[in-house]
Amino acid sequence: MMEAGKSHTFFIHTFGCQMNQADSGIIAALLQAEGYLPAENEAEAGIILLNTCAVRENAVDRIEHCLQHLKGLKKREKGLMVGVVGCIPQYRKEEMFSLYPAIDFLAGPDTYRTLPSLLEQVRSGGKLASLEFNAQETYEGVEPLRQGAISAFVPVMRGCNNRCAYCVVPFTRGRERSQPFSSVILEVRKLVASGYREITLLGQNVNSYCDTEEGYNFALLLDAVSQEAPLARIRFTTSHPKDISEALVRVIANRPNICNHIHLPVQSGSSRMLDLMNRGHRIEEYREKISMIRSLIPDAALSTDIIAGFCGEQEADHQASLELLSDIRFDSAYMFFYSTRQGTVAAKTLADDVPEAVKKRRLQEIIDVQNRISGELFQGAIGSVIEVLAESESRRSCEQLMGRSAGNRAVVFDRADYKPGDLLNVAITGATSATLIGRPAHHDTRA
Ligand code: 5AD
Ligand code: SF4
Repeated sequence: MMEAGKSHTFFIHTFGCQMNQADSGIIAALLQAEGYLPAENEAEAGIILLNTCAVRENAVDRIEHCLQHLKGLKKREKGLMVGVVGCIPQYRKEEMFSLYPAIDFLAGPDTYRTLPSLLEQVRSGGKLASLEFNAQETYEGVEPLRQGAISAFVPVMRGCNNRCAYCVVPFTRGRERSQPFSSVILEVRKLVASGYREITLLGQNVNSYCDTEEGYNFALLLDAVSQEAPLARIRFTTSHPKDISEALVRVIANRPNICNHIHLPVQSGSSRMLDLMNRGHRIEEYREKISMIRSLIPDAALSTDIIAGFCGEQEADHQASLELLSDIRFDSAYMFFYSTRQGTVAAKTLADDVPEAVKKRRLQEIIDVQNRISGELFQGAIGSVIEVLAESESRRSCEQLMGRSAGNRAVVFDRADYKPGDLLNVAITGATSATLIGRPAHHDTRA
């Protein structure tokens, strides 16, 4: 039987995006407020939660492995409770119970406030699912339990009202809703007071941020946050190309502490595919947005998401994606092959007709082009001086620190007298394909 006390300790495995990482902090805070205690590791926990992602096929495969392991653990440890929360419960619903007998409860992204009572009910027997949507839920007023003391996520809006044909997010996370402006500012103030040095504003579609009562759109919010935390780096993600405005780009250009980095998922280089994907813009408009960004912020680091082998993709469409990567020269890209998601517009109306081998070959070609470009850009940075926020000790040597540039490049540098949390100038002396290497330059930037 489980030792006394353990039944009220929990451990969360987090999969997927930054929003899930932020949500795990919210879940931990909600449980702690009801007397549950966070465990250091899985072995010390009486409740294990998997906070999951459903956006691509391999995300689902990854939790399968974890659930197999937990099935074994439950046999040895009577009373252990296992819950799957986040996007997979909304995607697969109650069928998860029959697929994976180790699961005791399911909770979707809008129901975390009910977790304490759900746990009590499950403890007295039975399996339960809490899968309601609540388009008002922003978790306003919940102060998340954060990992680390340097970098913090602040979800400013949740959900998505777009209907990109491949995407399951609108079905797992529901309608868009924004955190009130005053509540975001309050959270930012607390982060500043606790010494955080980097704040990332999160939303599935941040440009849709809207507080009608206080009259704030995302550009105004970003500006206000950056003024509230002048010594912290400010980042945000994710923007939709059709919604990113010149006003927003001007805010980024004008405010020194907003990182000059924009993540702008393109998904395909072909207008025909963008149309099938229901993205709401043509590729020329994407290219124009990039030109607008580069004219206002010449050193802007750009990154993107791209999908190979979406329904109906022809060789010419794929070539257009390769060309786009070569023309824009993104700093980095998240690259995927298409996997059909049940319930989406594409699953209902389009044939998943690109053979798997072709999808994989096209993805590999995309990866090869992007790796070459990233490598060239990294080599090109040798000899320059870059502002870096030190995050941690380097994995390879305690004589070195690891940090990130404003453009989100990983930089490893000689430690000297610096410590994680310091913002300093680093002279770049070398580069691998994914990391810049350097040493502190003589003068610092900001205190
Ligand atoms: N198949 C492959 N990639 C997908 N993405 C979203 N849905 C799918 C899918 N069904 C990618 C998109 C998105 C990123 C978060 O994941 O590129 O921007
Ligand atoms: Fe999915 Fe499109 Fe919404 Fe992004 S904007 S979450 S890709 S539906």
